[in-house]
Amino acid sequence: MPDAIAYISRDTDGVLWKKTLEAALGPLDFRTLDKLGDKADIEVALAWKPPAGLIASFPNVKLIVSLGMGVDHLLADDKLPESVPITRIMDDGLVGQMSEYAIYWALRHHRDIDKYAASQRAKQWKVEDFVDTLHRRIGILGLGTIGQDTAKKFAALGFPTAGWSRTQKTLPGIETFHGADGLGRLLARSDILVNVLPLTRDTKGLLDARLFAALPKGAYLINMARGGHVMDDDLLAALDSGHLSGAALDVFNTEPLPPEHRYWTHPKVHVTPHIAGATNPRTASPGVIENIKNLRAGKPLINTVDAKTGY
Ligand code: GLV
Repeated sequence: MPDAIAYISRDTDGVLWKKTLEAALGPLDFRTLDKLGDKADIEVALAWKPPAGLIASFPNVKLIVSLGMGVDHLLADDKLPESVPITRIMDDGLVGQMSEYAIYWALRHHRDIDKYAASQRAKQWKVEDFVDTLHRRIGILGLGTIGQDTAKKFAALGFPTAGWSRTQKTLPGIETFHGADGLGRLLARSDILVNVLPLTRDTKGLLDARLFAALPKGAYLINMARGGHVMDDDLLAALDSGHLSGAALDVFNTEPLPPEHRYWTHPKVHVTPHIAGATNPRTASPGVIENIKNLRAGKPLINTVDAKTGY
């Protein structure tokens, strides 16, 4: 019976995952990318950005677990076996980190911290215009687990907060919009736009010149979803024209961001290396453990992904 777990990631060595899973499941045949051995032994693939075609070469794989909450890195592989279920981690720790990231950059923008840092360097005692929290409207693209948590926390800080999703959602204290019509209405009222959408056929390139033009002048962008949502030249043009006042970007069309990319040195851009939400085995493992047990007991899986919608 194939029962090996393949840990496919180039970002971390998997030691913590092995320890965490074994604490719950007992000793495992846990194999990393460099030591996959006989691929016919592999029952479960835990994967983050697997090399294209690799999972298709596991003839007995029964479950594919995305080590990220986003699954675009798996669905981009057109050889991914269609009959094998995909689940994704649901990680409260990661969700909390994501909202921290958005709130950090939003407050830094809202409270003019970069301008005060420049004044300090110039030894200037200069007070910037006050903007009431009630007048700094937050718009969140994507109202899944991460978007909802982020929205709730912004609302708790007193920011008028709205969110947009593909299908209609109702959330207490949050204005919600959906569908194509709703997008324009959300954008028109978003002084800070936070992107947490999944990357799908429908959302690829959504953050383009038209979308930026629909934001109020001086709007600020926080992208902690995927680089593929953004048309980079359009974003740079919107920043250069002054229509957007700045952007905090954690994700990029090409990662690592190439050294020659303008984002690195653009005065209105903050770059971080895809760290907004790190998968933490402590908080991400309970659902994975449950699914390995479910799989082995023939029970239904949780946190399954619909390859058609892409999330
Ligand atoms: C990270 O980007 C994730 O998808 O969890």
